[in-house]
Amino acid sequence: MLWTPVLCLCLCVQSLAVPVPAHRATEHRKLLLVSFDGFRWDYDRDVDTPHLDAMAKDGVKATYVTPAFLTITSPTHFTILTGKYIENHGVIHNMWFNTSTWEKKSYYKSQFVNEWWDSGSLPIWITAQRQGLKAGSLHFPGTASTYQGESAFVREVEPENYNYSNETAWQENIDKVMESWFRGQDLDFVSMYFGEPDATGHRYGPDSPERRAMVQQVDRTVGYLRSSAERNGLSESLNIIITADHGMSTVYRNGLVEEIVLSKIPGFSFGDLSFHIVDFGPAGLLLPKEGRLDKVYSALKGAHPHLHVYKKEELPVHLHYSQNERILPIILWADPGYVINGYFPVQFHKGEHGYDNQALDMKPFFRAVGPDFRKNLLVEPFETVNIYPLMCHMLKITPEPNDGQLELIQHMLTSSIQPENEGSSDNDILTSVFTGLGAVAGFLVVVFVVLISRGIYKHRRNKSSSTDEGKIDKCQSETKQTSF
Ligand SMILES: *[C@@H]1O[C@H](CO)[C@@H](O)[C@H](O)[C@H]1NC(C)=O
Ligand SMILES: *[C@@H]1O[C@H](CO)[C@@H](O)[C@H](O)[C@H]1NC(C)=O
Ligand SMILES: *[C@@H]1O[C@H](CO)[C@@H](O)[C@H](O)[C@H]1NC(C)=O
Ligand SMILES: [Zn+2]
Repeated sequence: MLWTPVLCLCLCVQSLAVPVPAHRATEHRKLLLVSFDGFRWDYDRDVDTPHLDAMAKDGVKATYVTPAFLTITSPTHFTILTGKYIENHGVIHNMWFNTSTWEKKSYYKSQFVNEWWDSGSLPIWITAQRQGLKAGSLHFPGTASTYQGESAFVREVEPENYNYSNETAWQENIDKVMESWFRGQDLDFVSMYFGEPDATGHRYGPDSPERRAMVQQVDRTVGYLRSSAERNGLSESLNIIITADHGMSTVYRNGLVEEIVLSKIPGFSFGDLSFHIVDFGPAGLLLPKEGRLDKVYSALKGAHPHLHVYKKEELPVHLHYSQNERILPIILWADPGYVINGYFPVQFHKGEHGYDNQALDMKPFFRAVGPDFRKNLLVEPFETVNIYPLMCHMLKITPEPNDGQLELIQHMLTSSIQPENEGSSDNDILTSVFTGLGAVAGFLVVVFVVLISRGIYKHRRNKSSSTDEGKIDKCQSETKQTSF
């Protein structure tokens, strides 16, 4: 008999609960950012990719994303980490170089040149940590450097000549990040990098069976990653973004086309340059000797139908690749299919990137899944500068100044984490008012129910008539009148 009022009370209080956003302004979920180097947006079209398909169904897929120009690895990854165009973050090339000593460092060696990376822009790891979060990074370009003396709390830099395609090593790294970093050390944000399918795309070309096989390896790894998150109990607390730095385009060779060889161009001489970066895919940077800029420029401009030649300050604005003193005075790039050779052809890749970021072949893929992302949503293409403000928003940290716009892509988030429902918006105030009213009403109902129940209890002691169901029904009908 004594059960009745208690049960009734529970039901009333429960049905009175005012819907509160799943996720309050000060809380955030964990976030994993994954890059599969050179994963072109359409690589899933000619291969079976069950895990990527399942991820799209459970989350968000963009038709493609637009990387920053120059579409090469270190610069475009640093754009993802900072939300800045390359001219604004300063990592303008994979190679650190010094135009007076002619010294150049490889992609790998340049990872360790601190001043190349740390030139005023802070990657998201540092911003997150300064606001009380813990960040980690595994193999992501930029991880080896420190920024204003700080680095990611946990970081792992790959050894030189690392084998980027070992699937067993990929799985071990995934388990390490899930078990040890997210679960064990309770990190809030981790960035993770895989060097494929870029290497295979360069070596065999984007249309090769080898590239298709590597996309299947990536697909299996995406499946492995999601099941590892689940095994570690992270499904409800972890959001995952998977994207890439650029795409890949087939290079034409073997007499199929007239190759671009600068030394063969009439009126052009390497003797007029004091420094250059060519023989590095489709893009090149030239520093003419004092007084020879116009000579070099007019010799090259229009010399080959698939070679684009620009003075730095005249570069098309959409490329955002001129407002930085590290960028050399003349910028060259070729149309897809071509590379820029210096003295004679020395590049034998079957696939290349570094082209105009408007070329469809340069567009990477973008996928996202997790409790804060909508499900089964295909979104329009967007620029990768926008990923940074999205990540900051999801982690509830204040971003550094950047070139992205959260408004352009926030619709991929569930409404509970969209900015309209946060901070001191009217909506939030309304929610507080309703919560307050709900609490008062709840209290009144409880008092009412207790009084009534005691009445019924006393009454029953005398008459012992009505059933338990009857009382519950009554209780619920009271609830309906007082809830809103
Ligand atoms: C390039 O090297 C010269 C000579 O060692 C040095 O004075 C200069 O500061 C260096 N420039 C850069 C950008 O490292
Ligand atoms: C890298 O590892 C894979 C197997 O995981 C192997 O097939 C491949 O030959 C290795 N590559 C090099 C260059 O050692
Ligand atoms: C691949 O990685 C696993 C795990 O780290 C290692 O045991 C194996 O020797 C590697 N295989 C190759 C071919 O490098
Ligand atoms: Zn790359």
